Amino acid sequence: MEQFIQGMPKAELHLHIEGTLEPELMFEIGERNGVSIPFASVDEVRKAYEFTDLQSFLDIYYAGANVLLKEQDFYDMTWAYLQRVHAQNVRHVEIFFDPQTHTDRGVPFETVITGIHRALEDADRQLGISSRIIMCFLRHLSGEAALATLEQALPFKHLIVGVGLDSSEVGHPPSKFTAAFDRARDEGFLTVAHAGEEGPPAYIWEALDLLHAKRIDHGVRCVEDDELVDRLRQERIPLTVCPLSNVKLCVYDRMEDHSLKRLLDAGLCATVNSDDPAYFGGYMNENFLAAQRGLDLTRDEVVTLARNAFEATFLEPARRDALLKELDDYVAAG
Ligand code: ADE
Ligand code: ZN
Repeated sequence: MEQFIQGMPKAELHLHIEGTLEPELMFEIGERNGVSIPFASVDEVRKAYEFTDLQSFLDIYYAGANVLLKEQDFYDMTWAYLQRVHAQNVRHVEIFFDPQTHTDRGVPFETVITGIHRALEDADRQLGISSRIIMCFLRHLSGEAALATLEQALPFKHLIVGVGLDSSEVGHPPSKFTAAFDRARDEGFLTVAHAGEEGPPAYIWEALDLLHAKRIDHGVRCVEDDELVDRLRQERIPLTVCPLSNVKLCVYDRMEDHSLKRLLDAGLCATVNSDDPAYFGGYMNENFLAAQRGLDLTRDEVVTLARNAFEATFLEPARRDALLKELDDYVAAG
């Protein structure tokens, strides 16, 4: 199974690029920029990654992002991620970035998007990995701040396929961002939103009804609401599930308790993703393998998860169908 997962063509749809910053690169970039990190060594950083909930992770994650100042920093971080997932047979990625984490420290929007985009272009040419970029608003900040960030993004609209919503969920419902998402859709952006990670099913309803989300990021708490599960199935709304993240942030005590298998059994379009792999102990293959083992998933279920992801991409149909065929050929050959 491990070998089958390793070789399987995959798409990643829920990945915060700032969450791919491994401690080694964090130190390297921090040193060259003269930004100090509140840890003495790489080992000390890794030891600090003992999280109790989403907020305890976010506090460390935002501190780590402080080392990123120059376009080359964003390029290097993105390129390191792409090389890792290339070795895991990931064929397409849709990457989140959090502009406010950087612009609020005085780093220009252009610096961030240009560095990330340049690495994605190189990956397309050199590694055969296609990609899309999604810009997330930080939900612990105001709706007005999200609107201001959207204005800053407009000159780079051609590089950004959609907008999303992340950061501290509980107490910051999707309804807080209705105006920003209305404006984003008017400008032609697709929409997604984190909902039902720590927050209640009601936040998933809001993401669908108020933000017109095309995909729900996480969404694992939907299983608490039968009517919601019916809707997600009928409308075939994809859920970008992140198994290792959910266990690391104590959404579930053990992988065996994760709702992923229940989502598949209910006929939902569930996918597997890594969220913040430098912090949660694994990239795509490790997430697939941990979920497969913890939930005793069959080979067919593993393939369904990979197929769902290709179907849920924001790709043009020709590339999407070519990737689906790659997957079919792989399964037929195996
Ligand atoms: N930002 C980075 N990872 C996140 C997650 N899992 N939930 C919310 N915001 C995030
Ligand atoms: Zn996330």
